[in-house]
Amino acid sequence: MNYSSISYIDAASAPLRNTGEIKLHGPEAFAAMRKVGRIAADALDLMAEKVRPGITTREIDDIAYQFGLDRGALPATLNYRGFTHSCCTSINHVVCHGIPGDRALKEGDIINIDVTYILDGWHGDSSRMFPVGEVNRKAARLMEVTYEALMRGIDAAGPGATTGDIGAAIQSFVESERMSVVRDFCGHGLGQLFHDAPNILHYGQKGQGIELKPGMLFTIEPMVNLGRPHVKVLRDGWTAVTRDRTLSAQFEHSIGITETGVEIFTTSQTGRHQPPYDI
Ligand code: MF3
Ligand code: CO
Ligand code: CO
Repeated sequence: MNYSSISYIDAASAPLRNTGEIKLHGPEAFAAMRKVGRIAADALDLMAEKVRPGITTREIDDIAYQFGLDRGALPATLNYRGFTHSCCTSINHVVCHGIPGDRALKEGDIINIDVTYILDGWHGDSSRMFPVGEVNRKAARLMEVTYEALMRGIDAAGPGATTGDIGAAIQSFVESERMSVVRDFCGHGLGQLFHDAPNILHYGQKGQGIELKPGMLFTIEPMVNLGRPHVKVLRDGWTAVTRDRTLSAQFEHSIGITETGVEIFTTSQTGRHQPPYDI
């Protein structure tokens, strides 16, 4: 799509599908996003207590499922395009979309847990990294850089900024740390849809891309690799791994553009923003 064809539409009068137009939402949508975003944040807060050597990713998935149900929310990934689990669990060199299963976590692993819930039809999408026991310094630094990259991306957002400002903030910081930004996956609009326009690239140039306007709802979810940026998807059709098998990390928030800045819907209520979580 070329720049001149970008258009915005009042979400209240937009069809409930991805038309490529960018939906601008009102206060009721923000209230609903706050509620569902809190559920995603609280689930990840709980995960900080559960991630230990020996737990399997299937047990983590069961916790994600039960947590949602207890709060009246449905995991959005359950039966989403053939995915049959309540979260994604991406360990070490897995970049994203790891499928929960028999794998038990072991000391020194790093894992991303990515949850999305639906409450009253609205989606809250967030992920964090969790160290399993003690991890080495490189792994710890990778997680630190990735969290800071997400927050720098959020700081670059706001009314009048562009999607390119977000990408540039993330890419310049990550590359200054001699790490790389994954190109093959991006953030996305969300709301009553899980994945909607626009794409939010985690690389780019200041001033380029789409102008951000009050009422936009989207995720920022940079994936950062210790080695090269290239990924491949395994034969299960989901699991994305680094081609060079180096470690990868990701953090994700769901945010909204306000008249004056940004609202983050998925902030931890217990200070468990990034490791170490001091449980
Ligand atoms: N939660 C992921 C995201 O951030 C999407 C997972 S889709 C799944 O967009 F099917 F892999 F679960
Ligand atoms: Co997302
Ligand atoms: Co997600």
